[in-house]
Amino acid sequence: MCGIVGYIGTKKASPILINGLLRLEYRGYDSAGIATIEKNDISVMKDKGRVKNLYNLKGIDDLTGTIGIAHTRWATHGKPSKENSHPHIDNSKTFSVVHNGIIENYHELRKFLGDNGYTFYSQTDTEVIPNLIHYYYSKDNNNDELKFLRAVRNACKELKGSFAIEVICKDYPDNMIVVRKDSPLVIGKGENENYISSDIPAILSFTRSFYLLNDLEFVILSRNDAKFYDIDLKPIKKDTKTIEWNASSAEKDGYDDYMLKEIHEQPTAIRETIGSKLSENGKCDFEDLDFTKEYLKSLNKIYIVACGTAMHAGLAGKNAIEKLCKIPTEVDIASEFRYRDPIIDEKTLCIFISQSGETADTIAALKLSKEKGAKTLAISNVIGSSITREADFSIYTHAGPEIAVASTKAYTSQVILITLLAIYFSQVLEINNEEINNLKIEILELPKKIEEALKTSEIVKEFSKRVYQEKDIFFLGRGIDETVAKEGSLKLKEISYIHSESYAAGELKHGPIALIENGITVVGIMTDPKLVEKTISNIQEVVTRGAKTLIITNQNIDINGFDMVIRIPNTSPFISPILSIIPLQLFSYYISKEKGLDVDKPRNLAKSVTVE
Ligand code: AGP
Repeated sequence: MCGIVGYIGTKKASPILINGLLRLEYRGYDSAGIATIEKNDISVMKDKGRVKNLYNLKGIDDLTGTIGIAHTRWATHGKPSKENSHPHIDNSKTFSVVHNGIIENYHELRKFLGDNGYTFYSQTDTEVIPNLIHYYYSKDNNNDELKFLRAVRNACKELKGSFAIEVICKDYPDNMIVVRKDSPLVIGKGENENYISSDIPAILSFTRSFYLLNDLEFVILSRNDAKFYDIDLKPIKKDTKTIEWNASSAEKDGYDDYMLKEIHEQPTAIRETIGSKLSENGKCDFEDLDFTKEYLKSLNKIYIVACGTAMHAGLAGKNAIEKLCKIPTEVDIASEFRYRDPIIDEKTLCIFISQSGETADTIAALKLSKEKGAKTLAISNVIGSSITREADFSIYTHAGPEIAVASTKAYTSQVILITLLAIYFSQVLEINNEEINNLKIEILELPKKIEEALKTSEIVKEFSKRVYQEKDIFFLGRGIDETVAKEGSLKLKEISYIHSESYAAGELKHGPIALIENGITVVGIMTDPKLVEKTISNIQEVVTRGAKTLIITNQNIDINGFDMVIRIPNTSPFISPILSIIPLQLFSYYISKEKGLDVDKPRNLAKSVTVE
């Protein structure tokens, strides 16, 4: 949702903060602001609109402070406006705060503070935080070095909901306090300086050495130090973790957009995710997992829980686990799962997929599953992210940082990882057959086949130019191809704003076919040789009714009579989503470009959905 940056060191803070915000803008982009300490006073500069607008603010170049906090917003409480932008400041102008998350009890806190003489200028939930900190600060007569920390801690004890916050105080010009609860925040350690950010890529060009925070750990930062405390203000020892991603992986590297770059990074992302998990001799190894045959045999069900694209990767996982391991597997949307009282016990394994590892609904679903006694396994792209810290087991995709809001390489990496997990389960269960052996061979050949699939780019672009002004586009598929239809449709709507639906091809005649009329565009995905005849019949039904058709199929499937047929390399149906989604990712991308939209930052969306 929102993005947070902070700096404390020897350099002028403002350019570092704005630069960091630009890199975090994919998290939210309706307003932005910074606050620095200038000669023992707090200066706040902010405005509605994109981060780059900050460069035009009067006086921004005159800031010389070497400590500051910054924020790019995705509005939840209060419309995008200058007043609602962060940083927020308390009535006495002693504290300034940036916040990511939602304060659920802000009405009560506002009332409490109002009764104590505080006034408010914004409609945000956040504005209560600096005032609450001030409330506790003004009541504390002990003027020692921990007074600032005590006030922040006492205020945080009152907050319900989720928060990652940075606080500066004009009475403590050499310190900043940060804390998180159910919202992401990392600290990057430099030489005589510390950086703070909502996620790692934004500050990767400054350091690879990171402190990863647990919920309700309070940090007092100074130039040379980071002191950690628990909720009782007992000191905690914490070591840094070195992050292997390199800085250029968070840059555009000559591509027009991050999304296009990330689409083209898929051969590498898949190669890295396979890593040493599958060796040439066919052995599948997950060194962090030690599931036994008895445990897997005892399972009555596996749940795969996730949101959006990650949930679509889960559908491919269900297909692989059920077919290869014969364990009943259900896929659920995290926001539904958490409120529908799912039937879970110690014989249930719950798998959670999240690129960011910070998605609020997925984290809540994980906590619920643990409470109900299930074993939990997290699949994430971000080491140390919240779901990986909550789960009993964690495994990682190695897609590198994904910056574009529309997920591409994270999705395909999730599909390959969960397929490898299914192979690992089959190995533990001592199930061995030709289908599995063939799948292993295909997995090792996959990066090269992705490179082939990327060569469809030009014909996809050509077709996109023909249909970019459409109002509705339908996606159809059967079996594993239906999961790709879902993902293709989501990708299209999120970055092109074209209304799109996906259907199981056989469902068409049970209702949706009423929407098909002359000139409407239908995308058919048919890669599974066993089902292709059936899907062709369904697509013929829309052709008869005047639809324009784009077909994604394999090289060895013989079909004609459609407006455009795009062929991807043959592979095992278990991993065909990784190839068949590529032309569809490109399709969405080129339509969005043709419409002149911001591909990487589509309207109303944010990369990481850290609120419910
Ligand atoms: C994908 O293009 C979307 N941006 C979105 O559906 C995303 O996959 C979803 O919000 C889940 O995010 P996560 O993987 O970080 O949990």
